[in-house]
Amino acid sequence: MSPQLRDALQQAAGRVEVTLRRTLAEPVPGADTLFAAMRYAALGPGKRLRPALVYTAARTLRSDAFDPAHCDAAAAALECIHAYSLVHDDLPAMDDDDLRRGHPTCHIAFDEASAILAGDALQTHAFELLLASDADSDLKLRLLGELAQASGARGMVAGQAIDLAAVDHNLDPPQLEAMHRLKTGALIRASARIGALLGGANAMQLAAVSGYAEAIGLAFQVQDDILDVTADTAVLGKTQGADAARNKPTYVSLLGLDGAREKLAGLHRQALDALAQLDGDTELLRQLADYIVRRSH
Ligand code: IPE
Ligand code: IPE
Ligand code: MG
Ligand code: MG
Ligand code: MG
Repeated sequence: MSPQLRDALQQAAGRVEVTLRRTLAEPVPGADTLFAAMRYAALGPGKRLRPALVYTAARTLRSDAFDPAHCDAAAAALECIHAYSLVHDDLPAMDDDDLRRGHPTCHIAFDEASAILAGDALQTHAFELLLASDADSDLKLRLLGELAQASGARGMVAGQAIDLAAVDHNLDPPQLEAMHRLKTGALIRASARIGALLGGANAMQLAAVSGYAEAIGLAFQVQDDILDVTADTAVLGKTQGADAARNKPTYVSLLGLDGAREKLAGLHRQALDALAQLDGDTELLRQLADYIVRRSH
């Protein structure tokens, strides 16, 4: 990883940490466990890729005039939705996983009811954060719409529903792709688009950023499927082989490892092609795409 990308990821992680520590401090009396579970889920050692995309897309478009403070609320909001999706994804009724980010999953560290509530509350916290941000009203409405659409029944949650319905069934490649684009791609696409909108993107720039993000969003889940087979639990921070154990259709189960890797390489190229349509310094977005297809966890 290049020093610039390491800095960008560290900066994104640090800023999200500050925002979430501040906004999740001071529990409502009697609801200490809820707040502890929310902090546990949201502040664990994740990669903070979605926040990094928000900041990087905004920086790419704003160049000299970039101020990360204007992206803090949106970056933390994306991480809250992501963290909530992981808490619920790990529940016994869904993937039934007990390890996340190298630690016991939220429902193991606390209990199922607390994990469900922490997920619920992280979801609404995301919208509160955006609502309280310093964006002007028109932009704020646009960002809220982007986030709601990507998270809900026509976005991530739809993908999760298809994923669960597909256990013990075969999907064909277009069906698998549609599922991955929703369950993982939608939030990654929204992260980049929200960053671009915060960076003042015009329609053409937004289209180029969307094309880039759609490719890396799908690539991200293809690599997740590959890592489920090839990585060690210790490196992955989640249980290796979980997809096969639950008989989930994945890119690897459908195309084999080589086929999945080919798909990944194609998406990588597609992301870089989309970036070529964007003026300005796209180096960091390019490095993020490289990182997504090469990451080890
Ligand atoms: C894991 O996402 C879940 C998927 C969408 C595949 P990440 O790999 O971004 O998880 P963290 O945030 O780094 O733990
Ligand atoms: C997760 O997909 C997608 C969401 C959490 C929305 P996975 O079920 O493959 O994610 P991991 O492998 O548990 O992180
Ligand atoms: Mg899942
Ligand atoms: Mg899972
Ligand atoms: Mg997975």
